[in-house]
Amino acid sequence: MPVSCVTKQVNMLHQKRMRDSQKVLIPLSIVMIFSGIMAFTGAPSSIWGPNSPIFTTTRHHSTGEHILSWRIKTAPLWVYQGLHALPALIWCLLMPLQHVDRFRRHWPAFHRNNGYIVLCGFLVLSITGYWMLNKKVAHTHDDIWHIHNFSGLIPLGWPTFELTLLALEPLYIYTLLRTVQTARARNFNTHGTWAVLHTMVAYTIAVERVSLLISYVLGLALNFFPKKEVYNFFRLEDTLDAKATAEMDLLALMNLVAFALVVCWGIQEWRKTGSSVKTTEFSPALKDRAKQS
Ligand code: HEM
Repeated sequence: MPVSCVTKQVNMLHQKRMRDSQKVLIPLSIVMIFSGIMAFTGAPSSIWGPNSPIFTTTRHHSTGEHILSWRIKTAPLWVYQGLHALPALIWCLLMPLQHVDRFRRHWPAFHRNNGYIVLCGFLVLSITGYWMLNKKVAHTHDDIWHIHNFSGLIPLGWPTFELTLLALEPLYIYTLLRTVQTARARNFNTHGTWAVLHTMVAYTIAVERVSLLISYVLGLALNFFPKKEVYNFFRLEDTLDAKATAEMDLLALMNLVAFALVVCWGIQEWRKTGSSVKTTEFSPALKDRAKQS
């Protein structure tokens, strides 16, 4: 193969790194911004009230109101709003900007400063998020090892909201550290890939909110079936406690679904780089020849 052709392909390899599309990041940020605003205002009770049909809300066991409205009344607000929801709003506005190629090329200083803000912001979100889990300021089962299964409807079951979030922690921290380390080493190609991976993992929370909203829409569709049949199918009694328990099952499931969706998103972006093919064409020897030419 002529050297010029190898050079072109090596350049292609560098150009075709993983990306986070604005078409995905912006809608995710918008959903999360609404969520963040509701951490200050509460959820509208006309949509998500104690009498909402099953699976169209996530009601709290004690009052039946949406957990976001309940949380405002019970959480230490300086942490929940000041150190979690507020940084989340800023993070959601700034993170997509890190992935605009034009900004990065024309205003590298902006990219660097904004990068430090979003990464430090994420660290704050992560610390306060796990603090809230630790203090039980979260809508999760009291027993972290509990297996949710819609009262035995699905034999295998799935883990709690808390356990799934804890399992994500190493991924959050590792991708964050690698993003910073490669940027500081000025290894920008690798930095790009780690930054994309970190962004995907960090958006798991937003993907979970989207999955939850979709589950509310599906819950609304259940209204077309006779109530008795739906309750029999999900082995539900028509009590606040039973409904809140089933909706907590669903919340935990959506957390897992979000994790699976983010893995699919990562695989999809990785496949777009064409990394799964042409490995023989990019042997180290060929790369060296290309660099020397
Ligand atoms: C890094 C790990 C994170 C953990 C462990 C975590 C944990 C939590 C917990 C426990 C709550 C309270 C939920 C409840 O009331 O039941 C919460 C709320 C919230 N989190 Fe996080 N969080 C994390 C990251 C993020 C990120 C990256 C964002 C923004 C993109 C975010 C945005 C929010 C918002 C807006 C709320 C309040 C409204 C809501 O619950 O939807 N969090 N988080």
